[in-house]
Amino acid sequence: MNDALSSTPAASDATAPQPGGGPQPHAIAPAIGGRIIAVTSGKGGVGKTFVSANLAAALTRRGHRVLVLDSDLGLANLDVVLNLHPKITLHDVFTGRAPLEEAVIQAPGGFSVVLAGSGMVEYSRLTPSVRSEFLNVLRTLAPRYDVVLLDTGAGISDVVLYSVSLASEVLVVATPEPTSLTDAYAAIKVLAKQQKRQHVRLVVNQAARPGDGRAITGQLQQVLNRFVTTDTGEPMRLIHMGDIPADPSVRDAVMRRQLLMQHMPGSQAALAIAQLAAKVDSTLLQPAGS
Ligand SMILES: Nc1ncnc2c1ncn2[C@@H]1O[C@H](COP(=O)(O)OP(=O)(O)O)[C@@H](O)[C@H]1O
Ligand SMILES: [Mg+2]
Repeated sequence: MNDALSSTPAASDATAPQPGGGPQPHAIAPAIGGRIIAVTSGKGGVGKTFVSANLAAALTRRGHRVLVLDSDLGLANLDVVLNLHPKITLHDVFTGRAPLEEAVIQAPGGFSVVLAGSGMVEYSRLTPSVRSEFLNVLRTLAPRYDVVLLDTGAGISDVVLYSVSLASEVLVVATPEPTSLTDAYAAIKVLAKQQKRQHVRLVVNQAARPGDGRAITGQLQQVLNRFVTTDTGEPMRLIHMGDIPADPSVRDAVMRRQLLMQHMPGSQAALAIAQLAAKVDSTLLQPAGS
């Protein structure tokens, strides 16, 4: 077993209550209606926005009505990846300057997006108004789509955990790097304890070899079996949803500010995204979804 992983639980416990109250627990929010999938990660820069945008395009091609909600409120960059220059962002909606309808725009892949706008420090803390505005946006929009993807921030801050709590399913993106895996472990542990989730789904991005993802899922599951028990007394279950190889065409697409699914649909990473979309479709978006 990977050293970094096996030593994680004994190391500093990122989920322990913090002095001064610490993060408020967020149970999974009451059913909002519609399928809401949070795309999240322990560590930043692992590919959440890349996966969210391209998965949205792939699900759209499969015939679904898809919305991506930029939920990385402070450090949003979905607009950059999609080359969009929104006049109206979530910030305008939250502050009452524009109606929600005007913030919904069409992305190049044929799906809808609501962008957050970047660099707003007021969203680094979860205030009651951010909480209720966020919930309101999702309650209004989710019923209009087959699936909503939340492109969240990384880590276990209040704002990130709150947005994840609004989702019915969680897709954790991790790379094979030990730092990404230990951070993924910490985040998954919080999702078991605070949100009382019984399972989360894992996508291994920037995989070096085929089979990496299965091996990593197995390693992480072993650590969860030992250290993270859910409310039912069962270990937190990790469901491997797919691997996306490290592929230079991803960077190329980002540099050109195009979706990989459009720029290079035949690339290895694009094919992997299409496979991931097929799995998300069959396991989560069919009427008798598991
Ligand atoms: N499969 C991949 N292969 C190569 N580079 C990748 C891959 N996935 C992501 N990247 C690179 O990582 C960068 C960060 O990805 P991004 O989606 O913005 O991360 P996050 O949203 O998690 O912070 C991308 O701009 C891209 O250059
Ligand atoms: Mg991002």
